[in-house]
Amino acid sequence: MVVDLPQTAPTATIDLSAYRRNLARLAARVAPCALMAVVKADAYGHGLVPVARAAVAAGVEWIGTIDVETGLELRRNGIPRDVAVLTWQLAPNEDYAAAIEAELDFGVSTIGQLEEIVAVCASRRARVHLKIDTGLHRNGASVEEWPALVARALALSRSMEIVGVWTHIAEASESEDSAAIDRFSAALAVAEELGASPTVRHLGASAAAFTRADARFDLVRIGAFSYGISPGDGVSPSSLGLEPVMTLTAPVTAVNLGMATIAIGYGDGIPSAAAGRVRVVIDGRPYMIVSVQLDRLTIDIGDATVRPGDTAALFGAGAHGELTLQDWADALGTIGEEIVTRLSPRIRRRFFSEGVELNR
Ligand SMILES: Cc1ncc(COP(=O)(O)O)c(C=O)c1O
Repeated sequence: MVVDLPQTAPTATIDLSAYRRNLARLAARVAPCALMAVVKADAYGHGLVPVARAAVAAGVEWIGTIDVETGLELRRNGIPRDVAVLTWQLAPNEDYAAAIEAELDFGVSTIGQLEEIVAVCASRRARVHLKIDTGLHRNGASVEEWPALVARALALSRSMEIVGVWTHIAEASESEDSAAIDRFSAALAVAEELGASPTVRHLGASAAAFTRADARFDLVRIGAFSYGISPGDGVSPSSLGLEPVMTLTAPVTAVNLGMATIAIGYGDGIPSAAAGRVRVVIDGRPYMIVSVQLDRLTIDIGDATVRPGDTAALFGAGAHGELTLQDWADALGTIGEEIVTRLSPRIRRRFFSEGVELNR
């Protein structure tokens, strides 16, 4: 999309139409498997509520937030109850009563969590997804703990429904992922033998879901790819048929002796390592960043004509010569999601759908 906004402050322009197109492409790719839109970390820095609403408008029936508080925020902001919202990073003394009332789903790893949930279950059955650890060791029951976790959830079936069985895989190598898929299938067989009949079995995130049919099961949880953010190995979003959703711009505030100042700095989340490695684009021309300070960065403009008030594009879809987020990630030796999730709330997010700006 064309970003041509008069600007006085750094701005992340979020193209919700591109986000919906990405979701549609991903849904077609993984069909008949369902797709969960993952919106953790403020929708990967893109803005939680507008992004979640766009996912629902695109027909998504599953949303993944990491924590309960974010799930509650989505319900408060009108994400309807027929859209399942999965939370899975559950702290001790979580407010399960409010979460059950809001009809959030829980990714449960321990019997202790089941007991906490059942202790506050009153009018409504809780919806749980039992998690097996298949090698990533973030959370999830071990193979040894698994039968007892399943059995306890089944014993509590008056208070809770086992909606799902799930795990998360590293997507680090084909062979590790294959081993994790085998462990997951074995855990599913154990759960079924014990009498569980989960309706959704889920394991894969962006990369595995995209490339491996055997990683899909009933549901895949997609974050990075839905934002047009690709894996950190030089693969461009466009080669996957995905569009970048965010364009980051900032105004030129001063020009002096062949240098120009742009109003965005490391306090806004711009990595200081961008100096000497990354160029910003003004009117289609690239200029190297020479230093990154707290709230501004300096570019070398030589004898080019750049004026205060001009808009510098840091990254975007690339259609107007600007770098892409993947270019930044490659230049800085990181992954795109690290850059976008570090952008500070001070950077204004502006949301566009079909070229029209939305009110938040
Ligand atoms: C459990 C879980 N599922 C899915 C995702 C989405 O991953 P990706 O952004 O690679 O699609 C994440 C994000 O880290 C996650 O923690």
